[in-house]
Formats: sequence, C-alpha cells, structure tokens
Amino acid sequence: MRQLARRITDTSAKSFGMYARAAASGRDDLIHMELGRPHADTPAHIKAATIAALEAGKVHYSDLAGLPDLRRAICAKLARQNGMTVAPGQVIVTNGLTHGSFAAIMAFVDPGDEVILLEPFYPQHIGKIELAGGVPVPVALDAARGYAIDAAALEAAITPRSKMIVLVNPCNPTGRVYTRDELAALAAVAVRHDLIVISDEVYEEILFDGASHISIASLPGMAERTVTMFAFTKSYAMDGWRLGYLAAPAAAVPALLKITANDVTHVNTFVQEGGLAALTGDMAPLQAILAEDKAKRDRLVTRLNQLPGIRCNWPEGTIYAFPDVSAYGMPAQVFAERLMDEAGVVVEAGSFYGPAGEGHVRICFGSLGIAEVDRAIDRIAGFLRRIG
Ligand SMILES: Cc1ncc(COP(=O)(O)O)c(C=O)c1O
Repeated sequence: MRQLARRITDTSAKSFGMYARAAASGRDDLIHMELGRPHADTPAHIKAATIAALEAGKVHYSDLAGLPDLRRAICAKLARQNGMTVAPGQVIVTNGLTHGSFAAIMAFVDPGDEVILLEPFYPQHIGKIELAGGVPVPVALDAARGYAIDAAALEAAITPRSKMIVLVNPCNPTGRVYTRDELAALAAVAVRHDLIVISDEVYEEILFDGASHISIASLPGMAERTVTMFAFTKSYAMDGWRLGYLAAPAAAVPALLKITANDVTHVNTFVQEGGLAALTGDMAPLQAILAEDKAKRDRLVTRLNQLPGIRCNWPEGTIYAFPDVSAYGMPAQVFAERLMDEAGVVVEAGSFYGPAGEGHVRICFGSLGIAEVDRAIDRIAGFLRRIG
C-alpha cells in the first residue's frame, strides 16, 4: 500500500482515552462515567416527527445548507436564546457539532496556522486542527483560579501565525460557564489581533444555579469573526442522531458549504424534521432532562466533597464534574486506571485534556441514572479507603 497522507500520520490527538481502555478490557461490570452520552431517551415528539417525515416520503435530497424551515426555526431560536441576529443564509445544518467544527477549522486553517485553545481543551478540536495542517497552541488556564479565561495568557500566546481561537462554552471538561467579562476579554484579544473565533456551544442549555450562557458572537464586534456551533446532541438526548448547526458570517458561508457539501452533501432530510420538532415543539421534555441532570450533579458533587482528599468545584453547566484528586499523590492517568481496574468505575484523567487538567479527573454524571451515580460513588469511596 502507498504511504498514508501526512495529514493522517502527523497527528497526535487521541479522541478516546479511558473509553478505549474500558472497551479493550472486555469487562461488563464497569460503571461508565467517561463518555458524555446522555442518559435520557430522545423526547417522543421528536421521534414522532421524524417517523412522520419518513412516512411522508421525505427521503430525498434537500437543500445543501439544511431544510429552509429548520434554518428559519434556528434563526428564531438564535435571536430568542442567544442574542444573535442571523439570517437563514448564515446557517448550515450539520452532522452534530463535530461536523460543524470540522467545517469551520477546514475552512479557515491553512498548514502552519496556529490555533489557540483554552486548556483543559476538548481533544477532538486538536485532531481537527492537525488534520487541517494547523498547529494547536494550548493556553493553560489555572485550576487555582477556577479555570477562568486569562486574557494576558492568551495575548502572550499570539504570534504572526495565529489565526483562530477555539472556545468551548460551557466548558467540557471543567464545567465552567464563562462570564460576560471573561468573554469580553477574549473577544478583545480576537479583535485586536484579527483572529477568527469558533465557539463550541454544545452544552448551551445545560446550566445550573442561575448561570446564564452568553454566545460570544452576540458581543460587539464578534458576529463578523465568529463561527458558532450548536447541536441537539446533549440537551435533547439526540447524540446518535448526529444533528447540529452552525451560524457564520455571511461571507464565510460559501467556504463552509464547500466543506460540508463535499463531505456529506447534507444532513439526512428526515432527521432534520426531528430537529425542527425539537426547536418548535413542547419544551417540557427538555426541562425534564435538565432537571434530571441537575439532580445528578447535586448528588455527585455533594457526595464527592464528603470524601477525604477530594475537592470538587460545582460545575456551572455541562454534564461533567472535574474534581481535584491530587491529594492521592499519583498522576491523574494512574488514578483513573486504578479506579477502573480496582473499583470498576471509568472516569477520564484530567491530563487527557492537557497538562492543565493534571491532578483532576472528569466524571460524567449525565450518562447514568441517579441510582447508578450513587453506586459509582460508593465504589469510589471504597477505592479511596483502600488506597488511603
Ligand atoms: C465540547 C464538545 N464538543 C462537541 C462534542 C460532540 O458533539 P456532537 O456529538 O454533536 O458532534 C462533544 C461531545 O461530547 C463535546 O463535549
């Protein structure tokens, strides 16, 4: 076989850490808290609309950017919920957020371009930057400062090759929901250095204790330099549907469409009808999913903080807790591996998200029922007792 393309061989990013290790173990007694897979089923009215679309023969090619009705509904939602004024021509329906971020990175990043990420970062973004030939430049945020955005550190990372900043808000893995001041500070750096911002807002609805989600594209001067990516994945429990969307400056849309039309043509026609039902239909199921997430967060974080040596900040959003386990004196990867091997609980090492995550583990409470969350904490408590 001829040699693989360098865009494949020259990549360092791993998409799956403990998930791959758990799968390779063949064990069926593990409690899985490593993957951000929603626990709930997709709400019934969303499934019903999709089935009805299939039965009505909506099985053919449709608009490359997405169904016009869905894009109109997305614009209404962006205006209502995100403070973003966007025309349907600025929206592209994507195969989950993953597809939207891939398109955004491929459309803007040339080989050698530097792309800044806040660390701890979401590793899949690194993989895409590398596939585009770009150079990931992680900027470490400080755990002691609650992983707040540090504009001075961002500024210090900028070089003549800097092209883009990747933002994940609410943040996986730290659970932070960035404040207006933090976002304004990042925006000021982007404007000053003429950088593109791509904003991953897949957890925009999963917010706790009155935290409010602010889309950075709604800040002054940002709409023209921001591609914002959303998805139905987490809040609507639609991870397997692969449905999301992006909103971009009008001038960027032909470039983004060049990527999406060449890789998937467009998202499945009938699946988009499910998305339309999600945005325009009954919001009670969404509220129920969010209430369950909050109950599980409360249980997990309360109980974690009762365990000796564990310090866990309250996640302001997302489905992850990011406790500090450094008191146990071992690298986070070793802690995660021993927790799996010795107690059967799979979590991700904080260092998987870059060195700034060292000393922490990421525990997903979104993927289990509350009884399983309790069972997992019982196992973690037993493990900690044994290792002292
Ligand atoms: C920050 C972040 N972005 C993107 C994704 C992937 O989203 P999707 O399944 O919609 O592609 C995830 C999934 O865990 C995520 O945590």
